[in-house]
Amino acid sequence: MPDLSSNLAGIKSPNPFWLASAPPTNTGYQVMKAFDQGWGGAVWKTLGVPVVNVSSRYGGMNYRDNRLVGLNNIELITDRPLKDNLREIEEVKKYFPNNAVVASLMVESKEEWHQIVKDVQNAGADGIELNFGCPHGMCERGMGSAVGQEPKVLETIVGWVKEVSTIPVIVKLTPNISDITEPALAARKGGGDAISLINTIQSIIGVDIDNFVPYPVVDGKSTNGGYCGPAVKPIALNMVKNCAQHPDIDLPISGIGGIENWKDAVEHILLGATNVQICTAVMHYGFGIIRELIPGLERYMTEKKFKTIDDMVGKALKNVKTWEKLNLDYKVVASIDEDKCIECQLCYTACEDGAHQAIGIPDEEGKRVPYIIEENCVGCNLCSLVCPVEECITMERRDDGKSVTTWEQKSEKGEAPTTFNDPLAGGIHHWVPEPKDALKK
Ligand SMILES: Cc1cc2nc3c(=O)[nH]c(=O)nc-3n(C[C@H](O)[C@H](O)[C@H](O)COP(=O)(O)O)c2cc1C
Ligand code: SF4
Ligand code: SF4
Repeated sequence: MPDLSSNLAGIKSPNPFWLASAPPTNTGYQVMKAFDQGWGGAVWKTLGVPVVNVSSRYGGMNYRDNRLVGLNNIELITDRPLKDNLREIEEVKKYFPNNAVVASLMVESKEEWHQIVKDVQNAGADGIELNFGCPHGMCERGMGSAVGQEPKVLETIVGWVKEVSTIPVIVKLTPNISDITEPALAARKGGGDAISLINTIQSIIGVDIDNFVPYPVVDGKSTNGGYCGPAVKPIALNMVKNCAQHPDIDLPISGIGGIENWKDAVEHILLGATNVQICTAVMHYGFGIIRELIPGLERYMTEKKFKTIDDMVGKALKNVKTWEKLNLDYKVVASIDEDKCIECQLCYTACEDGAHQAIGIPDEEGKRVPYIIEENCVGCNLCSLVCPVEECITMERRDDGKSVTTWEQKSEKGEAPTTFNDPLAGGIHHWVPEPKDALKK
């Protein structure tokens, strides 16, 4: 049986699955219920000077039959008094001493930071997470993402916290920045023990087109909010990877963003996360998803012969290169399995109008299975992505697998195109139809 226990900068938990700071960690009642069902840790809903929230607060991005592929919120930090939260943290820790309780914090002045850090430490929190990520409401008041976007300010505040902290400090980063490694580096310089990412992405989820107001609607008005859920996973994975690969950051990472099942969590871990935090999936399906997360991860680790979580952390990083280091000699083409094809022609339309005119449809009566015109196929994958039948279109390798040429090598040898009509251009030998051929069809 693999060992699922997790240790993020000294914060230990029985497994790597933590609830992210959000509505599911608003109360001791919820955190106890989650721990009872098997969650390893919880980052408490951000504490600070309590706010007054608006109603309504959330907007959902539905895609076809799928509800909530993305979630947008305009909620602020906790609206409950600090003393109630502290009492509940203490109580949860009494019942669950081995689970991680991390206090998420957001205040303004140095004095407030010092006071609240001492308060949560006294309550028995195992770690502190600094919320430098909230992209709505709090940033207008100089907190949340307003700090996360200013590496110097972030570094100073981490320093204030470290002056009094006796437990590990996680710095939670905002994705609303062009280079995530800058605040991550500042977190390290300030003395942070770990980073967590991502917080929500600034967004407007949609507009009520009858009443001319974006969602969520508050008495006929709205405001920009923070976006999260399955739709943000690719952005989160890229940012986790960027931080994990940066040689000077060298801090453990708590991966957050779009995690709904064990496979999403594994992806975060393979790209450098030591553990993961989950919010939207719990808001959608409840704490019970832990019953899929733990056995799924266990099965995967057993299959891959990973004994501990640490064995997996960052395993995919060595295979993420900058573009100029990719092999230009590698060549795949699409191949259609005629027996699986349902003749929907989606691949034909996609390639014909959106790619490289490399799919044909037979002219014969009664035969409608498309075929690949190999010499036109650039191996872009599009047809296989749109095909609704699993494994019906696969990509087959055509190069001999022996030679490797990269853009970097080509540039060094002077073999990369450098002028507008350069004969070295990659597409120069590709077949393309004449413009007027479009009118014959
Ligand atoms: C309604 C809502 C409230 C949130 N409140 C907080 C918060 O108080 N503090 C915080 O650090 N992050 C907060 N978040 C962000 C989440 O902790 C998490 O970073 C984000 O939702 C991405 O994870 P997900 O894709 O699993 O939802 C909130 C998210 C939502 C949806
Ligand atoms: S891989 Fe791209 S170019 Fe090749 S057939 Fe499919 S869509 Fe067309
Ligand atoms: S998209 Fe797939 S199923 Fe549809 S015609 Fe193409 S190969 Fe066949």
